[in-house]
Amino acid sequence: MNHVIGFGKPHPPSGDKRWQIVDRAMRRYGYEPSALIQTLHAVQETFGYLDIEAMRYVAGSLRVPLSQVYGVATFYHFFTLKPPGEHTCMVCTGTACYIKGAEGLLAAVRETIGAKPGETTPDGKVSVLTVRCIGSCGLAPIAVLDGETASRLTPQELRERLRAWTAGGEIPAGAPTAPPERPGHQLGGTGPAAEKGGGA
Ligand code: FES
Repeated sequence: MNHVIGFGKPHPPSGDKRWQIVDRAMRRYGYEPSALIQTLHAVQETFGYLDIEAMRYVAGSLRVPLSQVYGVATFYHFFTLKPPGEHTCMVCTGTACYIKGAEGLLAAVRETIGAKPGETTPDGKVSVLTVRCIGSCGLAPIAVLDGETASRLTPQELRERLRAWTAGGEIPAGAPTAPPERPGHQLGGTGPAAEKGGGA
């Protein structure tokens, strides 16, 4: 546990509250460099992909070279460096949000754009993700829409946001595109099937 905070941990790339989720993941592993894969999983599950700013932040926080972070991110199939969709709709399914209506929000997403969590609409407009808690339970139910937290969100409001995103482009309901297969999706999955190119 030598790698706890106090060594000048960098600031998150933005004020986006989702970085708190990533921070929690790193804290759980004591900011050990060995938590790199788990941390990258947390970033991807939270933001849908890994960009250079995220990789730089992880590198600085875990004190590993950026080249190593990039190497891991590009080596495993389950990491993607590109945003999955033009827009991102992440619904919080933590306990407070669940009690306050997260299911209704997910149903509204399904009905409006025909995509379930983990899927992107066929035209690449909207990716749907879920997160367990972003630490704003008092404002439940919550969705993070393109990085902005929408609190006390109603299904109707969410439908309107989604329709605004997709206006001008028809999305055939019921035919969402599943994201690329991500074998070994569990934290720390490092099996050969998960490796790009099948070898070191
Ligand atoms: S459960 Fe949704 S913000 Fe905490």
